[in-house]
Amino acid sequence: MTRQLFTLLAILLCAIGFSLGFGVRTLMPAASKPIAGAQKAFAPPPETAIPAGPLGEEVALGRSIFTDTGNAAPDFVGNDLKCSNCHLDAGRRANAAPLWAAYGLYPQFRTKNGHVNTFAERVQECFKYSMNGKAPPAGDRVLVAVESYAAFLATGAPHGVKLTGQGYQKLPKPPSPADYGRGQAVFVATCARCHGADGNGQRSEGQVIFPPLWGPRSYNWGAGMGDLQNAAGFIAANMPQDHPGTLTNQQAWDVAAYIDGKPRPQDPRFTGSVAETRTRYHDTAQSAYGKTVDGVLLGAAAVVR
Ligand code: HEC
Ligand code: HEC
Repeated sequence: MTRQLFTLLAILLCAIGFSLGFGVRTLMPAASKPIAGAQKAFAPPPETAIPAGPLGEEVALGRSIFTDTGNAAPDFVGNDLKCSNCHLDAGRRANAAPLWAAYGLYPQFRTKNGHVNTFAERVQECFKYSMNGKAPPAGDRVLVAVESYAAFLATGAPHGVKLTGQGYQKLPKPPSPADYGRGQAVFVATCARCHGADGNGQRSEGQVIFPPLWGPRSYNWGAGMGDLQNAAGFIAANMPQDHPGTLTNQQAWDVAAYIDGKPRPQDPRFTGSVAETRTRYHDTAQSAYGKTVDGVLLGAAAVVR
């Protein structure tokens, strides 16, 4: 009897230890669940905590690259977006892929490129795809500054733990499959007033005031926002900007299918064939690349302005 109890206890302890150990491993898949104890929202330090001296200068430079990317890092940007258009509140907002939650999750294996990525490489990828630009080379000032800013925002955050608010909300599947036509109706009623009827955003006195959602100055086909699940999660939590959280789950998926069913710049991994590029990089229900939507074969025509 005592022996049985002892065995039971040992098994229980092992199980607890295993699940905890599993949760805090650094090289964990991105989709693993938050562990108990990481539930409390993490608060990044305020701007005023940026230290004086060379480190603080680097952090501040990283912040300006993050929020004014085209002006602060023009060599690496090929569109009208800023990092902070998708990583809101200068990379601070939960459920908008905040930097404080990202920093401690690297090195991380990513199925997207099939190897372990450092944090720097993850940033390079957003330059290449989301910014439709060029990856700053390893050790480049731009990369080091963005890393410094992310490290500053993550001050005091546990390493290797998936924090609440990390990434974009994983929105449950909609009641009926995401639909381009219904999405268009949502777009016209709810989004066009800011992002423009043509989805190309709006400028005033040379400045982009509302970022483009598709077209030649938006993210390219390789970007994470081109994945329906990411776009729906971002939109549900953060858009419309002045009334976030007001769309139904169905509306968020439908409007995501609409904007991600529009032409945008070519995937930089383009092999020369749309069909082959789809098979290699977009062979999922979450991507419309290589499909014909609204009479347009997505990925086929050059999208330039
Ligand atoms: C068009 C929207 C968009 C823009 C602009 C953008 N990103 Fe991202 N970023 C994303 C998406 C979507 C993901 C998540 C991708 C995924 O999970 O597949 C992401 C992920 C990241 C991550 C990893 C987050 C995590 O929790 O693992 C980092 C770091 C990052 N971006 C940095 C940047 C930087 C730096 C810039 C500017 C140079 C930038 N991003 C511009 C959409 C964007
Ligand atoms: C009140 C104006 C406004 C409305 C309405 C609005 N947005 Fe936005 N949206 C913005 C602004 C501003 C940003 C950039 C946020 C930032 O930089 O802080 C943005 C960013 C975005 C982004 C990421 C950046 C990009 O260009 O890809 C997406 C995607 C997006 N909005 C989709 C939508 C959708 C879908 C709707 C309708 C459901 C919508 N927005 C309604 C103002 C608006």
